Parts: sequence; structure tokens; C-alpha cells
Amino acid sequence: MSGNVIVGQSGGPTAVINSSLAGVYKTAMDRGANKVYGMQHGIQGFLNGQIVDLSDHIKSNLDLELLKRTPSSYLGSCRYKLPEVSVNKEVYETIFQKLHELNIEYFFYIGGNDSMDTIKKLSEYAEMTGSHIRFMGVPKTIDNDLAATDHTPGFGSAAKYIASITKEVIRDGLVYDIKSVTILEIMGRNAGWLTGAAALAKSEDCEGPDMILLPEVPFDTKDFIQKVDEIQKRKKSVVIAVSEGVRLADGRYVCEVGDANGSVDAFGHKQLSGTGRVLANLVAGELGCKARAIEFSTLQRCASHIVSRTDISEAFQVGGAAVKAAYEGETGKMITLKRVSDEPYQCTTDIYDIKAIANVEKRVPMEWIDVPNYYVTQDFINYARPLIQAELTPIMVEGLPRHLYCEE
Ligand code: F6P
Repeated sequence: MSGNVIVGQSGGPTAVINSSLAGVYKTAMDRGANKVYGMQHGIQGFLNGQIVDLSDHIKSNLDLELLKRTPSSYLGSCRYKLPEVSVNKEVYETIFQKLHELNIEYFFYIGGNDSMDTIKKLSEYAEMTGSHIRFMGVPKTIDNDLAATDHTPGFGSAAKYIASITKEVIRDGLVYDIKSVTILEIMGRNAGWLTGAAALAKSEDCEGPDMILLPEVPFDTKDFIQKVDEIQKRKKSVVIAVSEGVRLADGRYVCEVGDANGSVDAFGHKQLSGTGRVLANLVAGELGCKARAIEFSTLQRCASHIVSRTDISEAFQVGGAAVKAAYEGETGKMITLKRVSDEPYQCTTDIYDIKAIANVEKRVPMEWIDVPNYYVTQDFINYARPLIQAELTPIMVEGLPRHLYCEE
């Protein structure tokens, strides 16, 4: 590699996003990159001149191992939508001028479908202006809603955390001899992959959650209450996993019925929270039993103490594969994960045109949802189970996981 490399992270973080950063850094260095820069707070920070030389941060193999195990985005993140070139050409001119000043030849962006919009726009602008800079997307999102890839790094670890704590909450719910309903609110916006992962709690020593409510299925208040009532006739403690993004038939989010705030990000996404609370209030009012809502919130995407080894390894792998592909001449593409077999689980990487991925949300297919029983099917479970396998122990110091942190 003769020119320099730059890498950024964007969108919501995951427990393994830094493993992809480590994969980009290590592979670029191994291939002889002169400098590997990191943009702080993604493309937004880059525009403000927030750039670091990663070799000042990752000084040893131990640092690299710590980086892999550090949750959240080491470089910081942003939710910034690049304008269309026709609307604001200046912003592109500024970005490319800054890239030239740093002698950048390879640009990597680790993110979800909104972040891939940035790669799409920058690679299109490069093509339009005859720039030789190569732009590659590295997949990441706990939501697992990226098109063209079997799954996304970040999903497996969040799914493992959710399945584990769902088991623990189910056990806790059994202590009192009273009727109770516990609602677990899980992230994932408009795709129910992560909420469906609560079904993985079902095992030899656990019945699993009693109901799973996905955003792919419109929420019907009357039917929901009837179902909870029916289950409660058989068992006292009912545990329900609900996606933050469930909607009523008229398209309104269930959380909008409650007290959720109305803030919207640059991509027009509403902040979704409060769905569990709305349902718990509904249950308490209609059935008169104890009802509690637990919002997993950011815990589910930063629980690096229980990452899936499969996930963290694949996160590293996609970072490396992006560098390799760019080095071989690819641009305007994203690395994908391609499942080769379920048993034994085997997965490899591939590349895909960014235009088919940017801004597209991959939702749980209806044939993997058992709508009348408020559950996911065995096919869903077979798909998700390999992704939560094995562990990677944190590096513990004084009883706590050690992280690598970036001073601003
Ligand atoms: O992008 C992933 C995600 O974690 C979604 O599941 C969630 O709705 C959203 O981010 C929350 O975003 P923020 O942290 O910006 O509120």
C-alpha cells in the first residue's frame, strides 16, 4: 500500500465493533500501510478535523487484544447523513481535499445501513470526479438488519447477552407464589432479530420466554391481553420479550402511545423507548396483576464481558477482509458474511455492491415468525444459535474487565 488508510465508526455501537477496527488496523499494517488514521466521531468528526494516528494508540499486541475486547466505538460515533451532491457539493469537496492532504488511498467505514449510505455517496463522488480513493464498508449492527449478509457482527454478542439475561429473569420471576408479568424491552428498531433471540433462552433448564413480540407483526391490544390471560391460567410468572419498535396497525409505534420523547436523528429515526412500560401498564390495568418492565437499553450492545467468540472473531475477520478487498482494487462495496454450513457452523466473507445495501432494512422473514403463538420458529432458532457460541474471556484487572480507551 503506498497511500495511507483512514477508518471510522458510525451509528449505534456494539460489543465487538472495535474488533473490526482492530482487524482493519492489523491487516493494513501487515500489508505495509504507512499510516492508519482514525476519524473520531465518524465522518462528522473528520469534517471537524478530529483525526488520530492509530499507531499512537495501538502500541503492542496487548493493546490490540484490549481493543478487540473493548465495547462501544473506540473512535466515537456519529449519526450524520451526508447531503446529496446536487444539494451540497461543497461538503464533498471539503472531504476529498482533507483526504488528499492526508494522502489517503483507502477509506473504511464500520457501520450499519445508514453508515453504508456514506460509503455509497463517497464512492459515487469518487467515481464522478475520477478520484482513485477506494471506499469500503465494514458491516456492524446489533440490529442484524443489513441486506446481503447472512448476519452482522455485533448481533451474535447482543443475542448471547439477551438470551442469558432472559434466562436469569425467568428464574427470578419464579420466586414468589403470585401472578406476575415481566416485559423485556429489546432494541432493534424495525427488525425483530434481536428480540427473536430471546427464544434462545429456551433450553434444558429453562422454558424460555412465553411470548415474543416483533415489529414485523402489527400489535393488536385485545389479542395480546387475551393471550397473556390464557398463559397466566397455566403459569403464574409470564415473561414477554418485546421489540422497542412494535407498531399498531395504524403504523404508530406502541411507545408513542406512552411517554416516549419525540427526538429524531439525522436519518429520521425516532428514539424508541418506553414500549415495555406501555405494555406493563396495559397488563396491570387489564389483568390486575403485578407487571414490571425491564428495558435492556444500552446494556445489550455494550456487554463485552459475555461476547460470543464466533461474533468477535467474525468482526475481526470482516475488518481484515475489507482491507484485502480494497487493496485488490475494490471500491463502493461492503464485506458480507456468507454461511457455508449450519452444522458444523462455517462462515466465510464475500463482497457486495453498496448500492443494494445502503438504507435498506432486512427484516425477519414472515415464515420464521409463528404469529398466532407470538413466537419465532425453529428455523429462526437454528439460524441464530450458532452465532452465540463460545466465549472470549475479558482481560481482567483487579476484578474488572480492562478496556483500551481513547482520550479526546
Ligand atoms: O443502531 C442500532 C441501535 O442500537 C438500535 O437498535 C437502537 O434503536 C438505536 O441504535 C439507538 O440509538 P441511539 O443510541 O442513537 O439512541
